[in-house]
Parts: sequence; structure tokens; C-alpha cells
Amino acid sequence: MRPQVFVTRQLPAPAMNRLAEVCDYKVGVEQGALSRDALLAGVRNADGLVCLLTDTVDREVICAGTRLRVIANVAVGHNNIDVGAARQRGIYVTNTPDVLTDSTANLTWALILALTRRIVEADAFIRAGKFTGWDFDMLLGSSITGKTLGIVGYGRIGKAVARRATGFGMQVIYCGRDDIAFRDDPHHNSIMLARQSSTSPLSQSARLDGLAARRVSFNQLIETADIITLHVPLAAATQHLIDRNAFARMKPTAYLINTARGPVVDEAAMVEALQQKRIAGAGLDVYEREPEISPPLLAMNNVVLLPHVGSATLETRTAMALLAIENTIEALSGRTPRCAIK
Ligand code: GLV
Repeated sequence: MRPQVFVTRQLPAPAMNRLAEVCDYKVGVEQGALSRDALLAGVRNADGLVCLLTDTVDREVICAGTRLRVIANVAVGHNNIDVGAARQRGIYVTNTPDVLTDSTANLTWALILALTRRIVEADAFIRAGKFTGWDFDMLLGSSITGKTLGIVGYGRIGKAVARRATGFGMQVIYCGRDDIAFRDDPHHNSIMLARQSSTSPLSQSARLDGLAARRVSFNQLIETADIITLHVPLAAATQHLIDRNAFARMKPTAYLINTARGPVVDEAAMVEALQQKRIAGAGLDVYEREPEISPPLLAMNNVVLLPHVGSATLETRTAMALLAIENTIEALSGRTPRCAIK
């Protein structure tokens, strides 16, 4: 008997066609998000579940899917899935890394440029009929050349953002998982400071990887970067990583960019920091309670708001769907899927 797969939302034809070669499938909805009841019903007789970041695959859903062998997320983030509950039942959870790295890094740069050069404001200015002639100080932005880009989270996407910074003549600093985990540990922070001034192998290793990017502590990054961009997964250790305290440490000229996950930032604290001009602006693709947006953000000119479109190109979304299907087929054929979450 062919394996049964429940796909929560219709995916591009190349992916559905590939799935049909090996499995029988049902699709939850043609467009938009699936209801919870439909998700619970859909997993009931399924061997595999292909889902999106809007599907909450918690313990209840996992228990309802008594035959499930794989949960394949069509996203690199997997905070919508209870990976622990799946693991307890021997169910693979997979994601779609790599194929969306460039699109997400490009969108990050689109936000950086839109924000610092006031692209959205300038477009609205024209459409409102306000362009009555060139003026010397009309819509002045902020230069990024020679400024410091601070990358929080130095995985695939963080590095891809760093590579693009060299073209814009920016200095790059970054902090990784350990720097985040030990951000309140004075010992870790003093080691990181010592690395800056020493020529020891430790300080050199901080500069390796072919990029002129310098590893710093979380606090140093928050305090010195002109543009802070977030590229960490959402987990207990990163929830509200950018909180009131972090905003208080930022330069008043700093811009915050978030193309990772909304809850990494305390949105109420961000609104307060923007209102009190404790930072210069924010470029956001993600929100704490998507699709809800804190109303004050909608009225701010120094904020660019996107509806979670980091990986939204036709090519990338098709590649993500295909990769999720390959993961599903591999698991249902008795193999370890290539993108199994460890
Ligand atoms: C998008 O947000 C993803 O995690 O792929």
C-alpha cells in the first residue's frame, strides 16, 4: 500500500507531482492557513504530514497522528512543531535549510536599504503628489558605508548577510549561539573583550572564515552596531532576546532589522524604544503575534513593515516545497531524511 500524506496547504505543482510518484495525498486547503480542527482530522490516517509555519503541530496534533512517521515543515524554522513530542514517538521532523538562505539574506538587505534610504516614505511622497521639485535636503537618509553591521546569530543566513556587507563597505561584527547563551556571564564577556585586543590564537580564530567579520560579545554588538540584524532561531534561549535592557544599550542612531522570528524581540519594548527615539528605526518582516501588528508601528515613518516574506520568491518557495517532499519520501521509504532535525 502506498503511504498516505496529509499536506496542509496546496504546494507548487512540481512538488505535488513528485509526491504523487510515491505517495497518495490529501490537501487541507488551497490557500491560506488550515483550521486546527482540519489539521487534527487530517493527521488522523496519515503516515506523513507536510506543514507550514502557520500550522501549530503540538503534542495534541502529534498524538492524533497515530501513524505519523514524518512531519516535514516547509520552512527553515521549526518552532511551530513540538520536536520533543515527535521524537518521543520516533517521528522525524524535517525543515528546509539552504534553499532559502540567499532569498532571506537579500530581503534583509532590502530592509536595510529601504530603511536607511527611506524608500517606502519616498514612494508614498510621490504618490501623495508631494514631489513638486528637487530639493537639496529632501528625504535625507543615513549612509551605511563605513558603518558597523551587527549580526546576531551567525548560521547560514547570518553569514550570507555578512557576505553581502562587503559590497556596501560596512564593518561586520557578529555573535553566535554561545555569546547569546552566556551574555550575562561576566567571565565569558571578559574573554570576549580580551580577544579584541590580543593577538592570541583565540583572537585570530574570531577572525577566521574568509570574511572580515569580527566576533564580539552580545553586549558589545548591541552597544556598538549601527545596524543590528537578527538571524537566530526562535527557542527558549532567544525568546525576547532583544528586550528593554537591550534597547536601552543600543545607540540612538541604531536600526534594528528582524527577518528571523517575531518573539525574538519584545515588541512592546521595541515600540517604546521607537516612540522614545532610543533607536532610529526598525525594518521588520516578522512580529510577535503574527498576523497582528502593534498598532503604533503602523503610524511610524521610521519603520518598514513586511508581511513575513523572507523566502517569498517563486524559485525559493518551489525549492522549499520540493525539499520538504523529498524529506517526506525519504522518511516514508525507511531512510533518514536529509534535513532531519537532530
Ligand atoms: C520562514 O520564516 C522560514 O522559517 O522558512
